[in-house]
Amino acid sequence: MTTEHNTDTVKAHYAELAQSYDDKANPACKRAYESLVRRALADCTHVLELGAGSSPTLAVLNAPFAVACDMSFPMLAARNAAADAPRVTADGQQLPYASGSFDGVYTINVLEHVPAPKALVSEVSRILKPGGLFLSITPNGDVEWLLDLLERLKLKLPEGPHKFLNFAETAALAGDAFDVVAHQKFLAFPAGPEGLVNCIDRLGFRDRGWGLFQYIVFRKI
Ligand SMILES: C[S@@+](CC[C@H](N)C(=O)[O-])C[C@H]1O[C@@H](n2cnc3c(N)ncnc32)[C@H](O)[C@@H]1O
Repeated sequence: MTTEHNTDTVKAHYAELAQSYDDKANPACKRAYESLVRRALADCTHVLELGAGSSPTLAVLNAPFAVACDMSFPMLAARNAAADAPRVTADGQQLPYASGSFDGVYTINVLEHVPAPKALVSEVSRILKPGGLFLSITPNGDVEWLLDLLERLKLKLPEGPHKFLNFAETAALAGDAFDVVAHQKFLAFPAGPEGLVNCIDRLGFRDRGWGLFQYIVFRKI
């Protein structure tokens, strides 16, 4: 299910989805992401959400300085303007910020869409202060077949151009710039009512290191 993967095809995919993306995103997934963002970045004061799209996740943090950045103008334009953070259109592979501007950066379901994810992680490292945190949430590339099946069954949003990454591939993007401070797989089933999704997730998949998504928290050295 992989389409040609470059910045133009990714932009075209999200221009088409922008108006309906947030309404179609599964509420249980959103809640799981919010709770991870809150847990990982609660103490950060200068936070950048990269590939923020139309998601309101930034609002769960009370960061005095928070910016929603995305290379897709239509995705940013679809954000609910009320009580929203400043929006910046930029490619994460080349960010318009001075070095050391932030103490927290996060991406939710973004790295798999970036043609050169190493360049994006290197930019994240540049704009973070030493000790700053980078939270990455992505689909779990170890279960690509299952993610593809769910998409064929229309149980998840279409990925468009992407290359899924597993834990080792994601950790390798950090090179020598970061320590990995946390990693876990989570959410065993990303479709259907929130209660059902949470029940399935509590059946012990997480304890067995299984899930359709994964998060990694990196700390800049
Ligand atoms: C799957 S959507 C996720 C949106 C949002 N994070 C969420 O959880 O609802 C991926 C987003 O990443 C953005 N994106 C992909 N590649 C990017 C890049 N190189 N730089 C900035 N944003 C990018 C897309 O435009 C899109 O809005």
